[in-house]
Amino acid sequence: MPTFKLDGREIPFEPGDTIIRAAWRQGIEIPHYCWHPGLTIAANCRMCLVEIKAERPMLMPTLKWDAALNEFVPADKPKLTPACQAPAVAGQEVFAKSPEASNAQSHVQEFLLLNHPVDCPICDQAGECKLQDYWLTNQGTKKRKRTEPVHKPKAVRFGETIVYDGERCVMCTRCIRFMDEVAHDHVLDMRERGNRNEITVSPGRELEGHYTLMTEHVCPVGALTSRDFRFKARVWFLRAQKSVCSGCATGCNDYMDFDPRQNRVYRIRPRDNEAVNKFWMCDDGMLSYHRVHENRVLSGSVRNGQEGKVAPEQALSLAAAALKGVAGGKLAVVLSAQHSSEDNHALARFGREVLGAERFYLAALGGWDGDDILRHSDNNPNRAGALAAVDGKAGTVADLLKDVADRSVEAVLALGWATAEDAGKLAPLRSLKATVVLSSNTGPLTEVASVLVPVASFAEMDGTFVNAKGMAQRFSRVIHAPAGIWPAWETLIALARLLDKPFAISQIGDVRNTIIPAEAPAEAQS
Ligand code: SF4
Ligand code: SF4
Ligand code: FES
Repeated sequence: MPTFKLDGREIPFEPGDTIIRAAWRQGIEIPHYCWHPGLTIAANCRMCLVEIKAERPMLMPTLKWDAALNEFVPADKPKLTPACQAPAVAGQEVFAKSPEASNAQSHVQEFLLLNHPVDCPICDQAGECKLQDYWLTNQGTKKRKRTEPVHKPKAVRFGETIVYDGERCVMCTRCIRFMDEVAHDHVLDMRERGNRNEITVSPGRELEGHYTLMTEHVCPVGALTSRDFRFKARVWFLRAQKSVCSGCATGCNDYMDFDPRQNRVYRIRPRDNEAVNKFWMCDDGMLSYHRVHENRVLSGSVRNGQEGKVAPEQALSLAAAALKGVAGGKLAVVLSAQHSSEDNHALARFGREVLGAERFYLAALGGWDGDDILRHSDNNPNRAGALAAVDGKAGTVADLLKDVADRSVEAVLALGWATAEDAGKLAPLRSLKATVVLSSNTGPLTEVASVLVPVASFAEMDGTFVNAKGMAQRFSRVIHAPAGIWPAWETLIALARLLDKPFAISQIGDVRNTIIPAEAPAEAQS
């Protein structure tokens, strides 16, 4: 692989790479605002200026102070080049930290801050803002401008999800390019010139569609803020955990940002993975963290004479009592396309090995509008992983209802809340001998449960989702499950104990061994 030298360090590059991209691949950041690895090059912020040493250097005429003559004299200085636009050339020497380059970066930074408001104490970007970062690393000087800054529109509603602040904008055009190049919707543009520049929404339009929140994510400063996250948390209190989106079968890699003091998730943002989601996520995926907290099942519940809420461990005892004596041939085991492979494999094995079940079904949401950008038409994260637990041999919930109607099924053990059918359609399950549901959230399935046992959600456990391409992707626990609540696979181990039946699974490794015997799950790139 050809190489060039950046500040004395050898940098390999691929043909077609720019200097900034080759450096970025090596984990070296050349200061930049407008460049983004997933977007075309605009080269408009000039923050990435570097000095390139060449045989015939490009020089600019300048004036230098000559103390002896006590006047300015003509001189040359290197003409700096934007690293985001300059191609990497084998053998060349590049300096991003030379006095000339550092001086230029510092002045570009000062220029960008000339009219910038001192909003940091109330700006959602504070703590992860490139203006703050580069002020510290590349400028560090006090404001010299003493005149009134140019004022521009603030708190402009761009649409349902995004608010714009013209005074904070550095006009990098990343938001425009994202909407044009990735979302394929030219809904944003720039108007006016010079320091009157501002980003605007096409007349008669709103910033809308499935990818609006990404504009906030690519904005390097606090000019675009998400209405969902605005004023909710300061980022320095948040911790990030690597996870996988539960919104659909694409399985975009993400970070879940949570406040450990409150055990609460505050936002989801994309985690780069070229093979799955590149740098992007859709709005529904980024907002899917709400499910972790909304409609959460925090206690068990029972009906059939003992209507009401019970502690999780009591619900488990009642579940064991309800399942005792059910003939294996008459028991329906319902897997969940919303739950992890660990939960589904444990349930399938529990059904077979502990209860002698032969009938398996899969509960899943009924699909949504997919596209050719990221969104898969299957809005379940783990249909493939759940089906793998029963070698693909699972009926649908409609099949289950038929089997209930012809009395082939007299009890149900189900995982999760999600089905395409509403509780009305599931009403026949209410009349069975037992409908035991293990779920983290309320939904149609939990509404018809005779015994509901709370279990951990995907954010409260380590697990695996298998996406539509068959890629097994592991995710890690983000927050703690509420007291007394465990992942479904662990809950099933306790249930087997209560039923006094042997169950070969006693730890997560026992389930994982059966999940992907041939191939280890792909740990997503960060
Ligand atoms: S709003 Fe943000 S992303 Fe858009 S041009 Fe301004 S600074 Fe760049
Ligand atoms: S495309 Fe699917 S997996 Fe990706 S962010 Fe959206 S919902 Fe989540
Ligand atoms: S990052 Fe190179 S000009 Fe903006």
